[in-house]
Amino acid sequence: MARNIVTGSEETYEDRQFASESIRPARFEEYVGQEKTKQNLRVYIEAAEMRGDALDHVLFYGPPGLGKTTLAGIIANEMGSRLRVTSGPAIEKPGEMAAILNSLNKNDILFVDEIHRLNRQVEEVLYPAMEDFAIDIVIGKGQTSRSIRLDLPKFTLVGATTRPGMLSAPLRDRFGIVGHLEYYSVDELKEIVLKTAEKLGIEIDGRGASELARRSRGTPRLANRLLKRVRDFAMVRGDGKITSKVASDALDLLEVDQFGLEKLDRTILEVLIRNFGGGPVGLETLASSIGEDAGTIEDVYEPYLLKTGFIVRTPRGRVAAPSAYEHLGYDIPAE
Ligand SMILES: Nc1ncnc2c1ncn2[C@@H]1O[C@H](COP(=O)(O)OP(=O)(O)OP(=O)(O)O)[C@@H](O)[C@H]1O
Ligand SMILES: [Mg+2]
Repeated sequence: MARNIVTGSEETYEDRQFASESIRPARFEEYVGQEKTKQNLRVYIEAAEMRGDALDHVLFYGPPGLGKTTLAGIIANEMGSRLRVTSGPAIEKPGEMAAILNSLNKNDILFVDEIHRLNRQVEEVLYPAMEDFAIDIVIGKGQTSRSIRLDLPKFTLVGATTRPGMLSAPLRDRFGIVGHLEYYSVDELKEIVLKTAEKLGIEIDGRGASELARRSRGTPRLANRLLKRVRDFAMVRGDGKITSKVASDALDLLEVDQFGLEKLDRTILEVLIRNFGGGPVGLETLASSIGEDAGTIEDVYEPYLLKTGFIVRTPRGRVAAPSAYEHLGYDIPAE
């Protein structure tokens, strides 16, 4: 069976995910937080519409689960454009990328998730496509081969990545709009929890929502996921209503602590303190002692530990902050 690279009129996995996930915000009004990014995008979208032009290419970067994919969908909805979805690892050959680009209509949004994982040859197809709305195709072989240039309709590429540092400079430079997504505040997460609860018909009070928000490590995806799990506890162990106590007990059972740290977060701190005397230690060394992939630690776990200040990054490696010792119940070293 052919690999479903993307798009066409076929419905893709992501399309279905968009449609079935009724909790995913479809419009800017429903999208909580990220005020600066939202405000700027609204201006750029309005200006593009006034000019009757496609929106400039957009790159979103930030840790997982903060709403990059959601924003791509919102841009398409707000502009009344068609959204095509693919991802870096799904496209292996330049010809596949060329085929996708060639199938686009004017003003379509092409969303490329994990764009840092495109290989170099595929990426090179994007350069003229983004800059000049054209692709160069080589026909024939050997001496008789020649390159022809195909014009493309004006489209918008929306790229998302958790690792902006891994993008090549020529690709990065071709994005006119760059949005950095940040961790959400407790108040924003509370709003998201309450909205999701309403959509799913889950009974929760304000303090229950606050408790969930505090322990969702600044991440909407996690807040929504924990909400569903806590609801299960509330139904089986209680009367179905999520109060502060119900949320707190359930989250303890789920091993999500007061700061929203999960087991692996605590393992990272624990290993840093116990095996490496608090550091400094390099990422690779730390990762191999834990038995996790260094990339996963860097993308998924470390950003929140840095943000909360449990870990500090120094030129010589990662260091455990006094708060990490305190949190795990170790004595803070004298120096
Ligand atoms: N600002 C927001 N307001 C309300 N809900 C949000 C917001 N951002 C994200 N969500 C919810 O969180 C979930 C995760 O968001 P999304 O899939 O867009 O994250 P992502 O940044 O693309 O993550 P990844 O890097 O893992 O692909 C969505 O299903 C959506 O319901
Ligand atoms: Mg995503």
